[in-house]
Amino acid sequence: MFVRFFRALPPCLLSMLAAGLLASQPVLAQQPAPVLGLVPLPREVKTSAGAYALPQKISIYAVGKDALNVAGLLKEQLLPLGHTVTLTTNRQAAQIKLLTAPTPHPEGYQLVVDAAGVRITAAGGAGLFYGAQTLLQLLPPQPRATAAVPYVRISDEPAFGWRGAHLDVSRHFFSVAFIKKYIDFLAAYKLNTFHWHLTDDQGWRLEIKKYPKLTQVSAFRQQTLIGAQQLFKTPAEFKYDATPYGGFYTQAQVREVVAYAQRRYVTIVPEIEMPGHSVAILAAYPELACRPGPYQVWQMWGVNEDIVCPSEATFQFFENVLAEVTQLFPGRYVHIGGDEAPKTRWKESALVQDIMKKESFTDVEQVQGWFNRRIEKYLQSKGKKLIGWDEVLEGGISPSATIMSWRGEKGGIEAAQKGHDVVMTPTTYVYFDYGQNPQVHSPYEPLYIGGYLPLEKVYGYHPLPAELTPAQQQHILGVQGNLWTEYVTTPAKAEYMLLPRMLALAEVAWTPAARRAYPDFLPRLGQQYARLDQKNINYRVPEPLGLDSASVVRQGGKAVFTLRSLVPGGQVHYTLDGTLPDATSDRYTKPLAVPVGERLTVRAVTVAPNGRNSPPAELLVK
Ligand code: ACM
Repeated sequence: MFVRFFRALPPCLLSMLAAGLLASQPVLAQQPAPVLGLVPLPREVKTSAGAYALPQKISIYAVGKDALNVAGLLKEQLLPLGHTVTLTTNRQAAQIKLLTAPTPHPEGYQLVVDAAGVRITAAGGAGLFYGAQTLLQLLPPQPRATAAVPYVRISDEPAFGWRGAHLDVSRHFFSVAFIKKYIDFLAAYKLNTFHWHLTDDQGWRLEIKKYPKLTQVSAFRQQTLIGAQQLFKTPAEFKYDATPYGGFYTQAQVREVVAYAQRRYVTIVPEIEMPGHSVAILAAYPELACRPGPYQVWQMWGVNEDIVCPSEATFQFFENVLAEVTQLFPGRYVHIGGDEAPKTRWKESALVQDIMKKESFTDVEQVQGWFNRRIEKYLQSKGKKLIGWDEVLEGGISPSATIMSWRGEKGGIEAAQKGHDVVMTPTTYVYFDYGQNPQVHSPYEPLYIGGYLPLEKVYGYHPLPAELTPAQQQHILGVQGNLWTEYVTTPAKAEYMLLPRMLALAEVAWTPAARRAYPDFLPRLGQQYARLDQKNINYRVPEPLGLDSASVVRQGGKAVFTLRSLVPGGQVHYTLDGTLPDATSDRYTKPLAVPVGERLTVRAVTVAPNGRNSPPAELLVK
C-alpha cells in the first residue's frame, strides 16, 4: 500500500491553487501567511489588503559594500522575471530600498511592502540577501508587465546557524557549472553551508600542487560497476562498464567557486577523507599504505579495507594537502571524514603495533583518535576547526572538534553531552540518496541506493534532540541534507533526488519548530514548482493524492476515489488496465468509481505544467 503524504491538505487551499490564484492578487492579501507561498516560512508574517505594483523597470537603492553586493545579485535574479534594474543612491526614487540597521540576528532581516514600495532592512549582507530572496518569492514566477507584490511586513531570522547541503563529487563528478547552480539553489532557500565531499575511494577531485599524481592518477577510475551493487550476491557477479571515468577541479576553479559562494553568503566546507575512504590516494602513492600494493582507484561501492597507514609519511602527506586546502577555502571548518575506516590493515601492521605500545593504547580505534588529534592540531595551527563524521568520537577526540552525526542521532546526542558542537545529518531523516517511493526499487524510480525517505519524514525532523538539556542543545549548530552519488550519475538525477526534499530541509533549518506544520508546508511547496521550472531545476513531480485505502469511499459496490494534484496547474491522468498512465490516458475530471471484486489496479499520475509526469500512485481494488 502506498503511503500518501498529501492527505492533510486543506481543500480550500487546493481549490484556490487549482483556480490559479496567486498571492499577488489583493483578494488573498488578508489570508494567512501560507498562501504567500514562502519557503522557508518566515518567523513572522503580517499581511494587509493591497499590493504594490512593481514595474518592469526598477531602481534599487543601495549604498555600501553589502547593499551593493545584494543589489547586484537581485538585479541578476530579477532579469529572468522580466525586470530590468538600475542601482541608485537616490532613496526617494527607488522602488526597492536596501537599508542597513541593527537586527537581533546577524542573518535576520525585515521586509516591508506597502504603498511606498519595498524596503529590506538588515544588519549586513546576509540578512539583506535573505530579505531579497523572500521578495523574489513574492513575485510571480513568470515575467509580467507589472508584478503585484502583496502588502506584507515580515520579520525573519534563522532557527539554526548551520543550514547545510552536501554533495559527493567523488562517486560521480559534477561540473563547476552544476556546483554553481547548486549554490544558487541553496542560497535561494536560505541554506548557508555547502559541504563539498571532494575525496573518496572512487576518485580524488581536488588539484593539489604538491601531489600532481592525485589528479593524474587518483582522479580517474578505469571503469564503474553497472547496476545496484546490493542486488548482487557476490563480487564475482559484478559487471563493469569498461569506460574510464573521472575529473577534478583545478585550484583556479575552486577559487572561482569559493568566490561565487561567498558572494551568495554560502560557506564551503571542504571534506578531505582520512584515514578511510582513501584507496584513490593509495593508487597514486602506495607508500602511504600499510601493505605494498599496488592499488587501484575503486570501481565499485562500499567500505574498502585498504586505508592509509598512520605513518609519519601519511601525516606529512595530509599536512601538505591541508596546507593547500586551508589556503583555498576561507571558511572556519575543514571536514576530515573519519567514517567507515576498517582497522583490518592497521591490526596487521607492525607500525601500528609500535604506535599502540608507545602510546599505551589497548584498542586500535584509539589510533584513529590519536591520528585525528594530530590532524586537529595542524588545522588549529592554520586557524581552522576540525569537523568529522560521528565515528571520530570513538577513538577519543578533543571537545573542540565538531561532530557530524550521520548514524542516526545517537552520535550527535553523545557528542553534545560531552561538549562538542554538532551538526545533525542522520540517515533516517536527511539522506537524499534514499528513495522517495514506498515501493522498494520501484520500476518507476531511477536506480538508488535503497531506503525510503519520504518528504513528510524530512519535514518532520527536529534537529534538537529532546534528550539534551537546553545548555546541551546550544551545541547543536544545525542540520544538513546529504547527497551521496554512487547511483547519481547526472545533474538532472541529483536534482530529482534533492527535490522536493531539500525544500523541506530548508524549512527545518530556518523556520522555528513551533511554526512548522506539514499541511501548511504543502501548498507553499506547491507554489515553488513553477519557480524551479523557471530556473530549469529538475524535481520529482509528486504523485496525485487520494489513491489509497484510507481515502476511498464505498458506494453501492464501487470504490470511489477523489484524486488531486499537488502541483498547481497539474493534470491527473489514470488507467484501470494495468498500464502506466501518461498525458494521453484518461484525464481525471470527477470522482472515479471503480467496481469492487474485479481486482482492478488503479494507476494515476500527475502531469505537471512542465510536461513531466510523476511516478504513479497505484492501488489494487479487490
Ligand atoms: C557516511 O554516510 N558514510 C558519512
